[in-house]
Amino acid sequence: MTTAFDPIDLAGTLLPNRIVMAPMTRSRAYGPGLTPTASTATYYAQRASAGLIVTEGIQPSPGGQGYPDTPGLHSPEQVAAWRTVTDAVHARDGRIFAQLMHTGRIGHPSLLPGDLVPVGASPVAAKGSVYTAEGPKEFVVPRELDEDGIRQIVDEHVAAARNALAAGFDGVEVHGANGYLVHQFLAPNSNVRTDAWGGDAERRARLAVELVAAVAAEIGPERTGLRISPGNPLGDIEEPEPDATYLALLRGLEPVGPAYLHVVEGPDRALTLELRKRFGGVFLLNARTQGRPSGPEELALVEDGTADMISYGALFLANPDLPRRLRAGGPFNTPDRATYYGGTDRGYTDYPELDA
Ligand SMILES: Cc1cc2nc3c(=O)[nH]c(=O)nc-3n(C[C@H](O)[C@H](O)[C@H](O)COP(=O)(O)O)c2cc1C
Repeated sequence: MTTAFDPIDLAGTLLPNRIVMAPMTRSRAYGPGLTPTASTATYYAQRASAGLIVTEGIQPSPGGQGYPDTPGLHSPEQVAAWRTVTDAVHARDGRIFAQLMHTGRIGHPSLLPGDLVPVGASPVAAKGSVYTAEGPKEFVVPRELDEDGIRQIVDEHVAAARNALAAGFDGVEVHGANGYLVHQFLAPNSNVRTDAWGGDAERRARLAVELVAAVAAEIGPERTGLRISPGNPLGDIEEPEPDATYLALLRGLEPVGPAYLHVVEGPDRALTLELRKRFGGVFLLNARTQGRPSGPEELALVEDGTADMISYGALFLANPDLPRRLRAGGPFNTPDRATYYGGTDRGYTDYPELDA
């Protein structure tokens, strides 16, 4: 029987186990120019025993930033700073992919430089509010991307993927989940376009397909992954019939052949299994757990074949040596929500290892 502690071949790279550190925004890019810091390098290096680390969401361009103090991957200074992070992870025999996250309408003009405004598939504001330096603010109506604007978004992701390799990353994960820009194109309530980028499932899936294809053409499909969250209502997304959309997406991705698909599971396990059946690459699952973080229970999903790899968010945040602790059956440090976003090294680099 295959277990989560067995190695796996990720499109030509051998990973020592099937436990993934899930992408987690930490809002600590305090360096001038939104660069990761020395603490960031320590934080990821501490977690290098993961089969694969996926970084926090990184904006591919200044306009893609939706939260304070999130790092970018669009300037030479950022590339140099990320190099210290990837070097630290590789020095401990880890592997690290950069998550490219463009937040689209989930943002605010006050978070963006100059006169940039949030963009989206359609001029439909998300219900709710965003955390800014001046406290919570209502989401605004995003500027609808025209054809040139969409091309620019694709180009920005390609450039950021190129920068990721220059910074020493092993690959990139395109963020198509959790209500951000790519998801805003996938979902029918945030994408009400009637052109070639909206309408039926194929058209709503087109941006995701073209983005992944363009990134894969630049850095290689073996270095390209995609994260999706079918039916996830985060960011005021409504997907009453996700099956058609996500099966169209997988059909579009067939000729591209990205290394992995990372599914944030929604209410429908049957859809998870269908996606797994139809996807040719490695299948990463962030399982639906309802009210508790993913834990040792989820290891069985590798054993029963539901997924090739399991990703852990909160538990990996709080347990730098998570694979070892999972193998031992615990104990686990408890994640401290108060230090998730921003702050000092407390709740960042000071979670102890098992025998520390
Ligand atoms: C502090 C924090 C920040 C997160 N930031 C991101 C992010 O930047 N990108 C992303 O795709 N998911 C993000 N997530 C979601 C996680 O990747 C994961 O899907 C979620 O925590 C559920 O998994 P878990 O039960 O193992 O924690 C974040 C989660 C947490 C706890």
